[in-house]
Amino acid sequence: THPVLLDVDTGVDDALAILFAVAHPEIELLGITCVAGNTSLENVVANTLRVLDVADAPPVPVAGGAIRPLIEAARASHAHGSDGFGELSADPDFAHPHSFRAADPRHAVDLLRDLLLSAAEPVTIVALAPQTNLALLLRQHPELAPQIERILFMGGSAGVGNATPVAEFNVWHDPEAAAIVLDSSVQTFMYGLDVFNQVTIDRADADSLLAAPGASARLAGRLLQFPMGDDPDAPNESAAAADAAPSYTGHIGDAGALCALVDPGALRIERRPVRVELAGFARGQTIVDRRQRVGEDAIHAGAAAGSGSAGTLPGTTLVDVALDVDRSRYARLFLDTIARLP
Ligand code: BDR
Ligand code: CA
Repeated sequence: THPVLLDVDTGVDDALAILFAVAHPEIELLGITCVAGNTSLENVVANTLRVLDVADAPPVPVAGGAIRPLIEAARASHAHGSDGFGELSADPDFAHPHSFRAADPRHAVDLLRDLLLSAAEPVTIVALAPQTNLALLLRQHPELAPQIERILFMGGSAGVGNATPVAEFNVWHDPEAAAIVLDSSVQTFMYGLDVFNQVTIDRADADSLLAAPGASARLAGRLLQFPMGDDPDAPNESAAAADAAPSYTGHIGDAGALCALVDPGALRIERRPVRVELAGFARGQTIVDRRQRVGEDAIHAGAAAGSGSAGTLPGTTLVDVALDVDRSRYARLFLDTIARLP
């Protein structure tokens, strides 16, 4: 099993990822930290607790962290609805009648520190949001880096962006934080838009989830049908799409990063120097240097190997970058995993 800490900005697809993490037998979910991103920190914490309720998850600490990026305040994103939860937060269908959950009183950085210190073995951090909390952790507690197995993050792109023509939302929202994480001594694994956008659930399967008896499956079905946008310049996109006939995409989104954790063999992965652009119009772009093979094992499918080292370009670090995915394999893995939940 993989001991895992999740960092989220729940978030329609973060919610799908939380359901997956609770359900998958090889994932031992130690805790969840929240950060502002898709929506306010307050909404992120509330949405996260709600998802755990619906999944009837065992008690897991949930802590709130950074309320804004390190340097530059980002524009609000409405891509996941006004509540960051596809407008489902007021839906009585998904209210737990006897919820006992409350947020952990610790700050996310303190919760991460405590859980890393008490873990029996190094822990994988799966980051599905802007990396503000993780940058703060690595700056405040660099001595904990050996306790982190690796940071598997949804973010970045080797090609086209979504928040801007070249930048992916999570990195764009806090580029300095992403740069701190990439430049740390912790090995990183990038599950970026190159693979993120590929994994979708067929409409018929989403309809079956909606019709299922279990509340978790129904929630997954509802979330898969929410028309998620990513462009912060188009705040009314989802509302407008809901008024017109909403276009179905069925993206599992962030849940794909957890598929990458338990089934890396479905990915084509290259270990490449990656650098975050911090200035100008390309701010938030992840520049993946694919020009040359870095050593014999630079290109491989399956599990990421070895540990991080300095890149061949000054100021760059080697990152395991997922570039292609067996999309139907992950769609099946997602459906089979969600089916385990009540
Ligand atoms: C990322 O941004 C958010 O909207 C999603 O939850 C995902 O983590 C995609 O760019
Ligand atoms: Ca997210």
